[in-house]
Order: sequence, then C-alpha cells, then structure tokens
Amino acid sequence: MRVWRRRYYDLFSLIYDVIIALHSRDKSARLRRFLLEKAGLIQGQRLLDICTGTGAVALRAGRLLGGAGLAVGVDFSWGMLKKASQKAWENNVQANFVLADVSRLPFQNARFDVVTCSHAMYELDPATRQAALLEVRRVLVPGGVFIMMEHMEPSNPLIRLLYNIRLASMGSSENKEFARDERPFLSQYFDDVVLEVAPGGRSKIIRGISPPRDSENMS
Ligand SMILES: C[S@@+](CC[C@H](N)C(=O)[O-])C[C@H]1O[C@@H](n2cnc3c(N)ncnc32)[C@H](O)[C@@H]1O
Repeated sequence: MRVWRRRYYDLFSLIYDVIIALHSRDKSARLRRFLLEKAGLIQGQRLLDICTGTGAVALRAGRLLGGAGLAVGVDFSWGMLKKASQKAWENNVQANFVLADVSRLPFQNARFDVVTCSHAMYELDPATRQAALLEVRRVLVPGGVFIMMEHMEPSNPLIRLLYNIRLASMGSSENKEFARDERPFLSQYFDDVVLEVAPGGRSKIIRGISPPRDSENMS
C-alpha cells in the first residue's frame, strides 16, 4: 500500500508545482510565509519540514535562515525531492532534503527547534499520522514548536463534497474528524495547542509546543 502511495506522489511531483501555480503561486507563497511567521523561526534555529513535497516551506525557511541555522525537508517520494533539490540549487538556497517515511524519521532526539507540515497531515492514514506525531515530538527540543497548515472545510457545497471524497479516500472516517478539529488529536502529543485561521479564511494553522521530556513517554 505504502509503495503505491509513494508511486502516486512520484507521478504527482511531475505536475505538482504547475497545479500550485494555477491555484495561485502568490497566494500559496503568502500562506507559507504566514506559517513560518507563526512558527516564530529565528536565525540560528533548526527547522524540519515533514512531507515537504517540492520543498516550498523548507526552501522559504532556508532563505530566511540564510545559512545561520538549518532547514531540512523530508519526504518519501523521490520525485518530489528531486524537484525540491533542483529548486534549492537553481535559487542558491541552503536547504537539505532527506528521503524518509515520516513515521520513522532518521534523526536523533531533540534535533530541531521547529517542525512544520503544510497540507499533508490529512493525506496520512491514521496509523501513520499517529506514528508521525510521536516522531515529531521525539525530534523536537522540549519547548520546540510543531506547526501544521491545512485547508478549512470549504463552504461551497460542491467543493465541500470533493474535499470530503478526497479525505475519505486517504484513510478512514477518522480523517474527517481530524480535519474538522485537529486540536483534540494534537493535544495528545503537544502542550498549548492553538488553532488560527489564516488570512483569506481558507486555510488554518494549528500549533503546539513539545512538552518537557520528563512528562512524556518517549517509547
Ligand atoms: C500534498 S503534498 C504537500 C507538499 C508540501 N508540504 C506543500 O505544502 O506543498 C503531500 C506530500 O506528503 C508526502 N507524504 C505522504 N505520505 C508520506 C509519508 N508516509 N512519509 C513521507 N512523506 C509522505 C507526499 O510524498 C507529498 O509530497
């Protein structure tokens, strides 16, 4: 199953940036800027962007850090990462890309100050999402920030129908519950979970803080 998903994303990588551009590159750039502002990323910090795709968030973080810090993007699709690395090279941005499954991150404990995830948490099946959230908590320093961005449920009935079909096709009914309000789920892993609607009203960010080590089960 995972192999087919990976192949699907490898194929999708060939047109992903074109689709984003059609959808309005400017709007999506603004949203990613908003995500990083809300993450509070500052010079010298280390950021990990999970399910990075063609690297939009990791590249923006790399540009912001300007070499003073570390920006890493992780994805399990070789096709997506090839595009991301190409963009880093062409734009002379310092960002590193690592091929890995988000449920088994190849990093030591407490390696990152910030972990981001843009428009991808819903695409994970519930078991992978749980494993991924445990991994995110493990690789964050205590007090580090996890921040994710997702679409709001569309108000237009037709678009809402398509949105719900896509959600259902990605896992189980738990995906729909998660999408409606991520806070109860994220509160199982992080402290001080808050949700904020992004400018434009079509996306939202949900942010939590990695708890102190002694109060968490790291198994
Ligand atoms: C809709 S794209 C989002 C890409 C990017 N974050 C953005 O905002 O443009 C979802 C990404 O999640 C990746 N992905 C899905 N399941 C994954 C997994 N189990 N491990 C790592 N990456 C995964 C896919 O390969 C794809 O690149």
